[in-house]
Amino acid sequence: MNDIKQANNDYPVHPLIKERWSPRVFDAQPVEDEKIRSLFEAARWAASSMNDQPWRFIYAKKGSAAYDKIVDCLYEFNQGWVTHAPVLILTAYKEKFDSGKTNFHAGHDLGLAVANLTLQAQAMGLGVHQMAGVHWQKAQEVFDVPEGIHVSTCLAVGYYGGDTDLLSEELRKSEQAPRSRKKQNEFAFEGKWG
Ligand SMILES: Cc1cc2nc3c(=O)[nH]c(=O)nc-3n(C[C@H](O)[C@H](O)[C@H](O)COP(=O)(O)O)c2cc1C
Repeated sequence: MNDIKQANNDYPVHPLIKERWSPRVFDAQPVEDEKIRSLFEAARWAASSMNDQPWRFIYAKKGSAAYDKIVDCLYEFNQGWVTHAPVLILTAYKEKFDSGKTNFHAGHDLGLAVANLTLQAQAMGLGVHQMAGVHWQKAQEVFDVPEGIHVSTCLAVGYYGGDTDLLSEELRKSEQAPRSRKKQNEFAFEGKWG
């Protein structure tokens, strides 16, 4: 557990939520295949609109050609730290139901699946760092993602406890900074807006 990164919560929350944070450096230890399967199993059991399960994932382990291809699809800022991660996962969602009707909640459902995956990771001692900084059109092409599936984010996954000396000065500082959040009264309203 990393004391600095624990949530300074105003009300009680489960330790998996309190202790989760987004690392940019990871222990060099690879992630075992059965743990990877548990991550996707957690995603699998997320709730989804009409039970359509629109989430899709492409994952790769460090050292593989596919891993390097994912790195190539990321923004330069993310390329600066992401290769510390033993596993990278591209996330995507299916835009339409099989009926052809647009699924406006596909992004919501992918988020739920990623939240499940992230908390399962936390329970197994693994950190997950989510990234919007993905050239998604490039990723669609590089991985031959079919039409109707929209690449969304990338997840870096690995065991907590990496050596922060491997990071740039700026990223090292952020790795050692406390996590902060808005207060509940800025986003949770009873009965009326605001
Ligand atoms: C959808 C999403 C996109 C994000 N994109 C990036 C990114 O491209 N690069 C990055 O370094 N961090 C990215 N982050 C990480 C956030 O900056 C981080 O979750 C936030 O600062 C809160 O920190 P915490 O997760 O440690 O509580 C992203 C997080 C989410 C959920």
